Amino acid sequence: MRVVDLINRKKYGQALSRDEIYFLINGYVNGTIPDYQMSAFLMAVIFQGLNSDERLAFTQAMLESGEVIDLSHIEGKLVDKHSTGGVGDKTTLVVGPIVSACGVIVPKMSGRGLGHTGGTLDKLESIPGFKINLTSEEFIKQVREIGLVVMGQTTNIAPADKKLYALRDVTGTVESVGLIASSIMSKKLASGADHIVLDVKVGKGAFMKTLDDARELAKAMVDIGNRVGKKTVAVLTNMDEPLGEMVGNSLELIEAIETLKGNGPRNFTKLCYELSSEILLITDVAKTKEEAYQKIDEVIKSQQALNKLRQMITYQHGNPQVIDDYSLFPQAQNIIKVRSLKDGYVSEINALKVGEAAMILGAGRQTINDTIDLGVGIQVIAKVGKKVRQGDVLAVIYGNGKNEEEAYQILLDNIIITNEEVSPLDIILDIVR
Ligand code: URA
Repeated sequence: MRVVDLINRKKYGQALSRDEIYFLINGYVNGTIPDYQMSAFLMAVIFQGLNSDERLAFTQAMLESGEVIDLSHIEGKLVDKHSTGGVGDKTTLVVGPIVSACGVIVPKMSGRGLGHTGGTLDKLESIPGFKINLTSEEFIKQVREIGLVVMGQTTNIAPADKKLYALRDVTGTVESVGLIASSIMSKKLASGADHIVLDVKVGKGAFMKTLDDARELAKAMVDIGNRVGKKTVAVLTNMDEPLGEMVGNSLELIEAIETLKGNGPRNFTKLCYELSSEILLITDVAKTKEEAYQKIDEVIKSQQALNKLRQMITYQHGNPQVIDDYSLFPQAQNIIKVRSLKDGYVSEINALKVGEAAMILGAGRQTINDTIDLGVGIQVIAKVGKKVRQGDVLAVIYGNGKNEEEAYQILLDNIIITNEEVSPLDIILDIVR
């Protein structure tokens, strides 16, 4: 097999066989295929795409390049949830405890944030003492004993994807549905769960800017999951405005805790209920949506879901008192209010820009090696559709002296007020089963 022949065949739109795809991926990982040939191949994929068989082979070749956690000896319904990344997305911290309290097992590996999107691991690290690096043995013990764990990805998960993703990032070859779907699914299939719920974000603050593109990505991922025997469902959700009110690590943790106490913001609570109910449905814990919603209500009201989070924090060496005393979280010294310059209705809040504003305050990383400030961030008070008067607070900046004026200006420029009445945004856009 010659790599140049495979590049040429893809260039002319022909499909490759499973063996040919394994040859490419394995050769790239072991160094016999150089970056320049892989880059040319990836660029051909950008223009010609991958069919369903090719996507599956790509996913499995990348999955098999690393460790696959075997949880088959654990009894029960195991589910993994994945979000394609957004601004203010603290959903895992609410959905994990809810479904776990309903009897579903959640063995979750999460990532760190980069750029305008935050990462669940960074958020969890705002809990004093919280340990995100567990060994496989600790991971399995916690899954078995409490049915809920959120930890960092071990270095051995899908190393082929890691190497390929780094190459795609610098060769303009990220935006291919086939490549994105197989990249995400190769990591999801490694976690050992037999059910997968995907939260595919759509809009200004997301990877996929249009509903059509997001739907195509969702279908590709659901197809891969179902073809390897994992029940998979994707929920398409709006990321035109930040999710909930809080953007920033400890702020988002506090908002997640408030949501588990039943006091979450409307759109965020709706998303958590919807994702949780999809999980209860695919795992057969609930037969109908009504039953699922009832179960979720019960574990919120009885505080069982909140106690699940408490238990997870304790198991992972964090201080569980943060749940009752938010002053234990890292704090911001400066609180700056962004006020409306006129009367009207909030018509647009560019989530990408809010994410960038939080990042320059220190809440996120511009490069992978940046350190972050866990206490800083932004509260977006005026969401799309809200009627405001001149002088009303639109957003609050929580800063520690870094780039506060720039963040202020970004927020003022990107929370748009119009004279015409505007409807609030729908958070759930579609479901692909
Ligand atoms: N996230 C991933 O994990 N992979 C991609 O290719 C894109 C986003």
